[in-house]
Amino acid sequence: MSALQQKIEQTVAVLQQAVREFALVTFANSLGAEDMVLTDLIAKNGLDIEMFSLDTGRLPQETYDLMQELRKRYSVPLKIYFPDSVLVEEYAAQYGVNAFYDSVELRKRCCHIRKVEPLKRALAGKKAWITGMRRDQAVTRGGLEVSSFDADHGLQKFNPLLDWTNAEVWEYIKANDVPYNKLHDRFYPSIGCAPCTRSVTPGEDIRSGRWWWEDPQNKECGLHVGKSTPLKFTAAK
Ligand code: ADX
Ligand code: SF4
Repeated sequence: MSALQQKIEQTVAVLQQAVREFALVTFANSLGAEDMVLTDLIAKNGLDIEMFSLDTGRLPQETYDLMQELRKRYSVPLKIYFPDSVLVEEYAAQYGVNAFYDSVELRKRCCHIRKVEPLKRALAGKKAWITGMRRDQAVTRGGLEVSSFDADHGLQKFNPLLDWTNAEVWEYIKANDVPYNKLHDRFYPSIGCAPCTRSVTPGEDIRSGRWWWEDPQNKECGLHVGKSTPLKFTAAK
């Protein structure tokens, strides 16, 4: 059995365990490459896992295009959560719509309003959630576990792609003709909100295009916490 096939089987086993032991499981789908692999595995295996995306209101057009493509391709509905409009309006009035460039504090506040608060609503009443995080993605992600209790949100958290490599993610996408964000073809290995994401060059860390003006230690939006070593971008997909 190939290394990839083994990882696929392990991942499906983790997803099945989540469903078996924590009924009411939801998958946080950012539509990044890893999350498209999970989407495909969940759909193909008919797993009883809901799927949601946090639409910050500032996503790139290519991400919305992929949401639409996902809807046509898979039968699992993607539920969208928007930020609280009052909080967005207050932030814009007080600091300005692009104030996230002004300080780490204002950047984190914007992420809190547009991602963290909607995430709380998305996870309410669920017993477990699934993410597409991998250990070698970032300096902040080395300590990830495949499954652990997420005390911040009060439910179990699964990272079933934990030890997949970037090359394996792309091998799966190509082999299974999985739709993916077209920005990945333009040197965007990691995609978030449009104003906070840019392309990277080979040799840079794969998440160096996210909040590129900040210190790598700060580069989490508040959805996740942990520690790790960064992976270099090789342009190999
Ligand atoms: S981020 O926290 O810095 O934005 P990243 O883009 O690497 O993280 O995504 C890590 C995981 O967080 C994804 O695999 C997904 O499970 C979840 N996630 C991130 N952004 C979103 C989003 N907009 N909607 C739903 N889930 C998301
Ligand atoms: Fe705001 Fe940028 Fe965070 Fe998106 S990534 S929520 S635009 S600070």
